[in-house]
Amino acid sequence: MLIAFEGLDQSGKETQAQQLRERLREAGRRVRLLSFPDYGTSIGEEIARALAGERDYGPDVMQLLFVANRYERREAIAEWVAGGLILLCDRYRASSIAYGEAQGLDTAWLEDIQRFLPVPDLTIFIDIAPETAVKRKARDRDKYERDLELLGGVRRSYTRQAVQQGWLLLDGERSKEQIAEDVFAAVAARVGLS
Ligand code: TMP
Repeated sequence: MLIAFEGLDQSGKETQAQQLRERLREAGRRVRLLSFPDYGTSIGEEIARALAGERDYGPDVMQLLFVANRYERREAIAEWVAGGLILLCDRYRASSIAYGEAQGLDTAWLEDIQRFLPVPDLTIFIDIAPETAVKRKARDRDKYERDLELLGGVRRSYTRQAVQQGWLLLDGERSKEQIAEDVFAAVAARVGLS
């Protein structure tokens, strides 16, 4: 089973994915957590430089880098999921759709270039307002995190995708504990735990 966590930066995706990993492990399940971008590869290093403003790629090249960075893990993801692992991804395909769409890229193209990446069984969208994202991280923001208008567009794209594709949409302005309960309940129902 492949479960993707999506949302703006500071929405709590990473915290929730880590907590879910622990709870599933405690329940005896084999589980693994991946984060995208994967900054550990040479493409990931290039993404980090671009986010820090050391490169001047256009939005299309940026998303091609993010997508290539996921393709680097394509075979491993397919093997892990086929082997019965529960794989949690902190950001996945929908991040390129949301951030790309918000920068005027074509949705069909963003979907097409990712069509050979395994499809998530469940996507969990933790929704916060752009103002909350900015408030929660006052320093060291990357080039996307500084742009409130862009974050508004990202949120609109995520909301559209969530409604059209039947994602689990959670209000991320609540406490971590409340969100974690909702996440666990949804996943437990799907993996046969209760
Ligand atoms: P991170 O803060 O989660 O490491 O992600 C870095 C930034 O890159 C974040 O602002 C979201 C953006 N991003 C995309 O635009 N497309 C993608 O596919 C991914 C994974 C991240």
